[in-house]
Amino acid sequence: MAERPTRVRIIPRGPILVDGPVEVTGADGQTARSSRVVTALCACRRSALYPLCDTSHRRCRKVES
Ligand code: FES
Repeated sequence: MAERPTRVRIIPRGPILVDGPVEVTGADGQTARSSRVVTALCACRRSALYPLCDTSHRRCRKVES
């Protein structure tokens, strides 16, 4: 039986959600590990926990008029 592919979801103005435990290696060579069922990767580069999302993207949204 074929294994289900890893699901990755891109959230507009938010993180990239990856299913399953993940190990992420950044451009600096540092590795971050997460054992969560879903891991949020930072796509805005504002996270203090980069490459993991710390929800900082929520404070930086434009106010629409
Ligand atoms: S996407 Fe959430 S802090 Fe960057």
